[in-house]
Amino acid sequence: MSVSHLECAACGKRHEWRQLQNLCTACGKPLFAIYDLGSAVKLDRKNRSSFQGREKSLWRWCELLPLPEDVKPVSLGEGGTPLLQAKRVGGDLDIDLWVKDESVNPTQSFKACGMSFAVWMAKYLGAKKLAVPSAGNAGGAMAAYAARAGLEAHVFMPRDTPRANIIECREVGAHVRLIDGLITDCGAEIAKRKEKEGWFDLSTLKEPYRIEGKKTLGLEIAEQLDWKLPDVVLYPTGGGTGLIGMWKAFDEMEKLGWIGNERPRMFSVQASGCAPIVSAFEAGEKFAAEFPNAHTTASGLRVPKAIGDFLMLDILRNSKGGAIAVDDDEMIRAVRDVGSKEGLFVAPEGAACFVALKKLRASGKIDRGEQVVIFNTGSGIKYLDLFE
Ligand SMILES: Cc1ncc(COP(=O)(O)O)c(C=O)c1O
Ligand SMILES: [Zn+2]
Repeated sequence: MSVSHLECAACGKRHEWRQLQNLCTACGKPLFAIYDLGSAVKLDRKNRSSFQGREKSLWRWCELLPLPEDVKPVSLGEGGTPLLQAKRVGGDLDIDLWVKDESVNPTQSFKACGMSFAVWMAKYLGAKKLAVPSAGNAGGAMAAYAARAGLEAHVFMPRDTPRANIIECREVGAHVRLIDGLITDCGAEIAKRKEKEGWFDLSTLKEPYRIEGKKTLGLEIAEQLDWKLPDVVLYPTGGGTGLIGMWKAFDEMEKLGWIGNERPRMFSVQASGCAPIVSAFEAGEKFAAEFPNAHTTASGLRVPKAIGDFLMLDILRNSKGGAIAVDDDEMIRAVRDVGSKEGLFVAPEGAACFVALKKLRASGKIDRGEQVVIFNTGSGIKYLDLFE
């Protein structure tokens, strides 16, 4: 474990990592864990394959996480998800297509990776009560890990969150509040009450450690593709933790000499009814304005304003990727298409990437023969109401 400090992603101010805290005390932007990777001799290129022999879980990357050795992780068996070749869909488009299937995580989504680590760190640093605004899957994951850790969980969700997510949170013991509004309204409610209630706020990118758990998505695809990153990554984007976490992992792997300076072209996929990153990308903006009248049935993409907007936009531009919006009815149709061709019951957010893939291929932004990784971030089983 070689973490040295936390650093603000905007102004660079250093913060102590062994302290329960949220945003930069100088500018209110997200904090990232910084590692002293030069001193990590046993992590050099020769040793990168030694991780393969370990148990397939997030925790096998422990040297790359701020993980004090004497404390046991709060685990439900997260991470180590399969990277599956999608030969039929890929064949139809003349590309080499792979799906990173995050739906097999505990609580059926990639939110498990961020939350297992964030809940663990919050407990280690002294939190007793946790709160999170959630479009669905983050709440379920936080509630489950909080139960496992013996901490109190408070989940604020928009009233139109899929029923399965709401029920899941309750059944694993969380206090659930339904709000007439969007995830941003839920976040505002937590911000208003957290001091008085003694809640630690686990909102996306408003504490430094969810991103460390999400970083393992990037470590895993590198390892699964034998340390050669794909040409293109498609990621269904709300708050952007996976996108930002993966990019951080790529940089850390390069510093360790595990990979070179090549990067995939990263594409954010959003819903036409809530596409703040797409609008800002197209307009050449550094930050994304709040998306007006946000709506989409892909609840994980219903994020009209994200604190990590500038980080996402930098990644999309530096990687020479882009951002693309797709309609809800296209996503829902794509679920059955992918399901019947590949045997995967994907979440609408994952399905959105398959729609985007077709469009990017048709417009020539993805070339014939290129290797593409799509993130299926969750399971269709949580969204049964959409398929009646
Ligand atoms: C299934 C699913 N996919 C994608 C997202 C968006 O993830 P992020 O906020 O990391 O961009 C979410 C967020 O709730 C989700 O539940
Ligand atoms: Zn700052």
